Amino acid sequence: MERPPFFLLLLLVLHLLSLPLLSFSKSTIEPCTGSDSCPALLGYTLYADLKVSEVAALFQADPIAVLTANAIDISVSDVENHILPAGLFLRIPTLCSCSDGIRKSVSTRYKTRPADTLTSIANSIFAGLASPDQIREANSISDPSALDIGQTLLIPLPCTCFNSTDNNLPAIYLSYVVKAGDTVTAIATSYSTTVTDIMNVNAMGNPAIRPGDIIAIPLPACASMFPRYASDFGLVVANGSYSITASHCVQCSCGPGNLNLYCTPASLAVSCSSMQCRNSNLMLGNVTAQPTSAGCNVTSCSYGGFVNGTIMTTLTTSLQPRCPGQHQFPPIIPPPSTLIHNSFLAPSPSPVQSQPGGAMTTPKTSGSGTFTPPGASPANGPSGSMSEAAIVKPLKHILVVFIFCQVRTFRL
Ligand SMILES: *[C@@H]1O[C@H](CO)[C@@H](O)[C@H](O)[C@H]1NC(C)=O
Ligand SMILES: *[C@@H]1O[C@H](CO)[C@@H](O)[C@H](O)[C@H]1NC(C)=O
Ligand SMILES: *[C@@H]1O[C@H](CO)[C@@H](O)[C@H](O)[C@H]1NC(C)=O
Ligand SMILES: *[C@@H]1O[C@H](CO)[C@@H](O)[C@H](O)[C@H]1NC(C)=O
Ligand SMILES: *[C@@H]1O[C@H](CO)[C@@H](O)[C@H](O)[C@H]1NC(C)=O
Repeated sequence: MERPPFFLLLLLVLHLLSLPLLSFSKSTIEPCTGSDSCPALLGYTLYADLKVSEVAALFQADPIAVLTANAIDISVSDVENHILPAGLFLRIPTLCSCSDGIRKSVSTRYKTRPADTLTSIANSIFAGLASPDQIREANSISDPSALDIGQTLLIPLPCTCFNSTDNNLPAIYLSYVVKAGDTVTAIATSYSTTVTDIMNVNAMGNPAIRPGDIIAIPLPACASMFPRYASDFGLVVANGSYSITASHCVQCSCGPGNLNLYCTPASLAVSCSSMQCRNSNLMLGNVTAQPTSAGCNVTSCSYGGFVNGTIMTTLTTSLQPRCPGQHQFPPIIPPPSTLIHNSFLAPSPSPVQSQPGGAMTTPKTSGSGTFTPPGASPANGPSGSMSEAAIVKPLKHILVVFIFCQVRTFRL
């Protein structure tokens, strides 16, 4: 193009001025190598009233795992057919893999239905967790207007691992789609973390976020110490929630009093291998305490991972200063039928607003009873994230297209 530089500059300025009108979403990219993966959570807002099993099927997730990740009671009869309300915010457990050098969840497939468009699939059905462009690229779709009904699409979803730690403490990362009215401060408050921590994790230069951006929120969690050959190696459970493992035989919880993973036999009626600790009459999760003159003799039978279909157990005895009290479990809630306020199920602290499709988001008052105010945590999040990376490619592309259009316009 043989244009005088000032002309290009003018176009660039015009282009930059027009930027706020176009919406480019940022998301946090974590580079990776190797084939390791980690558990992660997707923050998902239901686009319609959906059964528990339908929400789970959308993400090819286990319905029971979806429920336990949200501390929803699984003992309710026929819980998988319970209808959850549109606008409900759920944490969907997913496996965060390493694909093409970046962290993403690549286990979700979606079968297109009549009237679906890439935009409706991305923005409505998957609630902004994927962009139309990402779906188009992941499936090498050349003509997005010609989606076949019943076509199976890979839906790449954002996730991060960062070694399942935050500030060297166990953490699980929630991929959160920013909604209108959200601020980093309000998000930090509702997730009991700090603005600095969120900025570090997401490599943000300033705490500016825009609707549609996807940020990684570290949630304090309980880590497991299972051997690498266990099929549930690397299990991490977010504070205040549960996880189901070992073919639905074992249920592990985290919090509220401490961040030690606590596993017990699951209450589901399934046939399971023995959950009794060898050489003892203790079952998984049983703790006996015997006061002695030297302190309290505590024996516990704990879960050691799922190996070749066998539930591994470990019996440990230790002398502790005080005898432990009864184990406290994170509170469980009945399956929601209406939007809940003031629980971690509620969406971000944004004002009530209409969503495409008529769904409503719930406001969340900050400082809700379930979480204590964030403590002053040291400000050195995991490194290696680059929140700008995602924007660079489409931006360049659009810049070129834009200049081209302007040149044509100016010529006329
Ligand atoms: C990952 O976390 C583990 C503890 O969970 C720690 O021992 C290890 O050094 C960490 N690795 C990196 C690369 O940070
Ligand atoms: C875990 O959750 C409980 C209850 O929500 C809260 O009181 C506690 O401070 C949390 N622990 C951490 C380390 O965030
Ligand atoms: C041992 O664990 C089993 C299964 O969780 C439970 O039913 C039983 O009450 C526990 N026994 C003791 C003594 O804690
Ligand atoms: C602690 O309890 C275990 C099992 O109840 C017993 O085998 C052990 O001898 C006890 N140790 C002490 C120091 O009392
Ligand atoms: C699991 O079973 C396979 C074959 O049955 C065996 O080769 C492998 O060593 C077992 N792994 C462990 C950790 O026991």
